[in-house]
Amino acid sequence: MLDRDLPSQGGLSVLEFRQVSKTYDAGHGRVTALKDLSISVRPGEFLTVVGPSGCGKSTLLNLLVGLEQPSGGDILLNGSRSIDRRRIGYVMQNDNLYPWRTLRENVEFPLELRNVPEAERRRISLDYLAKVHLRDFADRYPHELSGGMRQRGNIVRALSFSPDLIIMDEPFGPLDAQTRLLLQNQLLELWADEGKTVIFITHDLPEAIALGDRVMVLTARPGRVKSVHDVPIPRPRNVRHLHEDSVYRDLLSRLGDELAEEISAGGVSQ
Ligand SMILES: Nc1ncnc2c1ncn2[C@@H]1O[C@H](COP(=O)(O)OP(=O)(O)O)[C@@H](O)[C@H]1O
Ligand SMILES: [Mg+2]
Repeated sequence: MLDRDLPSQGGLSVLEFRQVSKTYDAGHGRVTALKDLSISVRPGEFLTVVGPSGCGKSTLLNLLVGLEQPSGGDILLNGSRSIDRRRIGYVMQNDNLYPWRTLRENVEFPLELRNVPEAERRRISLDYLAKVHLRDFADRYPHELSGGMRQRGNIVRALSFSPDLIIMDEPFGPLDAQTRLLLQNQLLELWADEGKTVIFITHDLPEAIALGDRVMVLTARPGRVKSVHDVPIPRPRNVRHLHEDSVYRDLLSRLGDELAEEISAGGVSQ
């Protein structure tokens, strides 16, 4: 859908993992988290990733932002190995808003790092907070907000500096089902506005299908690509009503079987 906005990029993939492997040297031995993982992420795509616990999902993102180094293979952004990590917005699993900053100051933090002038920072942060219905909470501190509010703050903080790529690691994991649905819809709206490339990790298959253009299923550790599925459900989507959609139900059943295979193959590792 977003290809129309990116004619100059043609078939160029914004991000490519080529045969990426990662082995950790843990005290008690070596753990191969990822093995020969290859995937091309298209410009503007919303790619979701599911896989059993411990199969290397977080590792994949940590390699991308340089928190870890691959043991083999390449990660290329627009064909280049040198990735400007300031162009990536990372939403980690647990919201990590600074407790001593208000919500607005948290959202402004990446803009401060990039020397955006104060008035401009304020305009951008309040704009984003309004988009996720948090304008009235801009001057509150994280401890005064619900988990869902903090996580919305966390997400708009990762968007505020206009990154090329947004990566999210189970961002809605700890939230209750209703808040999750609300945030999923809000995330889809933000994404539709922004047209950014997103890699979204989740252990929740319904969420992966509801949000993604494609779903990548990883095997049990060491994580490899088991399969990649298109999600041909038209947008805009309302995640609340997807269970009525036969394409959604069919994918849920097929991918559910695949995931179950991997979970039983991996035992209860981790
Ligand atoms: N820094 C590390 N040192 C050693 N082992 C690690 C480290 N990070 C992750 N691992 C191991 O690598 C495997 C994959 O971890 P992770 O990427 O966090 O999985 P997931 O996010 O899919 O649950 C796990 O077995 C985990 O224990
Ligand atoms: Mg993880």
